[in-house]
Amino acid sequence: MTAQIKTVFSRQILDSRGLPTVETMVILDTGGYVVASVPSGTSTGTHEALELRDGNKEYMGLGVERAVKNVNETIGPHVRGMDVAKQTDIDHAMIELDGTRNKSNLGANAILSVSIAVCKAGALASNVPLYRYISTMGGFIQAKRVPTPFFNLINGGLHGTGNLDFQEFHLIPATNKSFKESLKIGVEIYQNLKNSLTRRGATRSVGDEGGFTPNLFSNLDAFEVMLEAVRAAGYSPGSDVFFGLDSAANTFYKDGKYVIKDRSSPLSTNEMIEFYRSLLEQYRLISIEDGLYEDDWEGWVKLTSELGEKTVIIGDDLLVTNKERLEKGISLKAANGILIKPNQIGTVSETIEAINIARNNGWQAVISHRSGETNDTFIADFSVGTNALYCKYGGLSRGERIAKYNRLIAIEEEIIAAS
Ligand code: PGA
Ligand code: ZN
Repeated sequence: MTAQIKTVFSRQILDSRGLPTVETMVILDTGGYVVASVPSGTSTGTHEALELRDGNKEYMGLGVERAVKNVNETIGPHVRGMDVAKQTDIDHAMIELDGTRNKSNLGANAILSVSIAVCKAGALASNVPLYRYISTMGGFIQAKRVPTPFFNLINGGLHGTGNLDFQEFHLIPATNKSFKESLKIGVEIYQNLKNSLTRRGATRSVGDEGGFTPNLFSNLDAFEVMLEAVRAAGYSPGSDVFFGLDSAANTFYKDGKYVIKDRSSPLSTNEMIEFYRSLLEQYRLISIEDGLYEDDWEGWVKLTSELGEKTVIIGDDLLVTNKERLEKGISLKAANGILIKPNQIGTVSETIEAINIARNNGWQAVISHRSGETNDTFIADFSVGTNALYCKYGGLSRGERIAKYNRLIAIEEEIIAAS
C-alpha cells in the first residue's frame, strides 16, 4: 500500500548524556505516524557529516533548535506529498536541498531524523516489521539470525571517568550462538566483571556506553580483568567468547605519536602496530577498531597488511561511513572492516550504500550506535535488516543500550517463529 508524507514535525529532546538532540515525527496521509530520534558521538571523526548545533548561550552552545527549525520549515515542506516508500528519492531530495558535501547547511542531524522517520513510516505503511522492511527496501538477503553483539564491557578514553586510554574493550560471543544465548553470556560475564573490579578496589561506575570505567595500571589490565570474569562465569575464552578493541586512537595521538599508559614513552606508528601484534597474540582479539589516527593512511595500510589476516581491522573515524573515504580505504587496503554509523553520513540510503560497497569488496560491516543515544531502537532493526554479522550497542547497563538488546530479543523470536 502506498502512503504519502502529510506532515513532518520536529522537536528538541535530550540524549543519554543529557544533551540536546533531534526527534522527528512523520505523519502519513493514512493517519499513521512514527517518531525517530538521532544519536550523537563524543569521540567523533573529523570527517563526519556536520551535526548542526546552535552555538549560542543556551545549552552550552549544544542546542539543536536550528536543526529542528530546518526540519519544520525547510525539509518538511519539501518532502510533503512524497511516497514514503521512496527512501532513496526522499534522501536525495534532502541531500540536494542541503547542497553541501557534509550536510552543513541543514545539518546531518536534521536530515537523518527525517530519513530514519521516513524508513519507519515506510515499514508502517507496508505493515511489516521494520527490520524486514529495511531488508526488502535495501535489497538485502533476509536475515536468518540476529547479529552477534560486541559488548563494550569496559569504557575508557572519552567515554569513561577511569584512566584507560583505549575507549572500548569488547566481549564478543562466538557467532554460532543465538542472540538469546549471547546475551545471557554477556550479562553473566558483565556481572562477574563487576565483582572482579570490586575485589580489586577499582571504580565500577559505568561510562557513556554502559561499560565499567575502572582505574587500572595499564590498558592490558582491562583484558586481564575481563579474562578473569570470563573464567569466573564458567566460559572459555577463545571458543565461547572472544575479545575486541576500539582504541579510538585519535584521542591519544599527540604530536605524531601514540601516548598510552602501557609504555613509558610515546609510540611511533610502527611501535603501535607491534603493540597490537602482542595484544592480538595474548588475547586473541578478533577485531581492532581505530587502532591508529584517522588520517594516518600509511599506518593503516601497514597495520592491515601485518595483522589483517588474523583480525578484522575496522575503520570508524578513518572511514566515517563515507563512500569516498571507504573507496579510498578499499583501494589502499587500509582496513578490512568498516564501522557503520548512520549519523556519520546523514541518510539511511547512503548508509546502505556504504554497507554494500564494503561487502562487495569482502569487508566486514559492523552496525553501530553512538555514545550519545536515545531510546530509539532503529539501529537494532537496521542491523538485522542489513543482515549484519556483528552489531555494537554498548555495555550491559543503561536503558538506552538495553533498549537495543531488548529489541533484538523480540526480533530473534519473530525470526525463529517465521522460519
Ligand atoms: P562515539 O564513540 O559515538 O563517541 O563516536 C563510538 C565509537 O567510537 O565507536
Ligand atoms: Zn569507534
